[in-house]
Amino acid sequence: MGWSSWERFRCTVDCQRFPDECISDRLFRLTADLLVSEGYAEAGYKYVIIDDCWLSKKRDSKERLQPDPERFPHGMKQLACYIHSKGLKFGIYENCGRTCEGYPESKDHLQLDAQTFADWGVDYVKLDGCFVDINILDRVYPAFGYYLNQTGRPMVYSCSWPYYYMRKGLKTDFKKVSKHCNLWRNYHEIEDSWKRLQEIINWFGENHYKIGKHAGPGHWNDPDMLIIGNYGLSLEQSKTQMAVWAILAAPLIMSNDLCAVSPELKDILLNEEIIAINQDVLGIQGKRVKKEQGISVWVRPITPVRYSHSYAVAFTSNRDYGVPYTYSVGLKEIGLKNRAGYTFKDLYGDEEFILHPHENLTVRINPSGVVFYKASVLV
Ligand code: GLA
Repeated sequence: MGWSSWERFRCTVDCQRFPDECISDRLFRLTADLLVSEGYAEAGYKYVIIDDCWLSKKRDSKERLQPDPERFPHGMKQLACYIHSKGLKFGIYENCGRTCEGYPESKDHLQLDAQTFADWGVDYVKLDGCFVDINILDRVYPAFGYYLNQTGRPMVYSCSWPYYYMRKGLKTDFKKVSKHCNLWRNYHEIEDSWKRLQEIINWFGENHYKIGKHAGPGHWNDPDMLIIGNYGLSLEQSKTQMAVWAILAAPLIMSNDLCAVSPELKDILLNEEIIAINQDVLGIQGKRVKKEQGISVWVRPITPVRYSHSYAVAFTSNRDYGVPYTYSVGLKEIGLKNRAGYTFKDLYGDEEFILHPHENLTVRINPSGVVFYKASVLV
């Protein structure tokens, strides 16, 4: 869990005109401060991740990467120190080839770059795959992971490897990816719109059979950043993203302006019960078990386990027809078969009730909204 600059701040480098938005030392210190003071850090959001556009266009005289001297005048080590002093972790971005925004590449300096990051106190590296022959990714991603490990400093390793395969219509060897990476982007990047969010959600619903089993503690499928708190999503749609990310056991990496998140959206991001589902120790990725009438039903096995699992159950809606939609499904039909039943707790409301496998669960779902329950197994 953490925060990344990319989706919200992109490659804003003009600090004269956009001092509050440019990719600079100031933005990351301010974000670190806000993560702590606004309660995000306590809720679990610990990684402050600098995405693209932090680099100087040139390596230093010893071929080492260096940050843009104007926007990061104190260097990366000091910034890392500051972030660590707040009890947070420090993440950074590089690319096999030239970065997607045209900054220096890594592929011929993998060992040196891994060591540089370790020397700076980096805790998380995202390695992207723009502007290279796709055939080298199978070599470069494992090699960089190897060099990260060689440094002796624990660093989370985020790979974009499967995304570049997907883009070319090639099949990813997820067994291999999950051996070398801690998280990996599977699909197109998120943008600030409900349309793109729907596409991503739909892709993860459809491709569970290919990717689901490769998720588990230490290695996760990554549907990309949380965009809650930005311009593109309504309140309902924001609830939907948070619920589906919890079902998918997805990394929760916000990309937003923490100064500008409204209280009701902040509540979604800080919802303890939903975060607990996302972080459930079993680490099982949930899946879409039904799709009909514009409604998708998502189920994820979670703790507590008493003879059988408890579950997180979400109903999402692609319907845009005005009124909330009434939908009913038999518990057995969605895999909830424990004879003693389950206590259902509404995670976006207060309602609590008990249901048994032969009974129906009936919900009213707002257009583009979600109904989200924790179903704790009874004995
Ligand atoms: C790619 C990635 C994004 C971001 C940008 C940076 O597009 O998909 O997540 O890292 O590169 O340029």
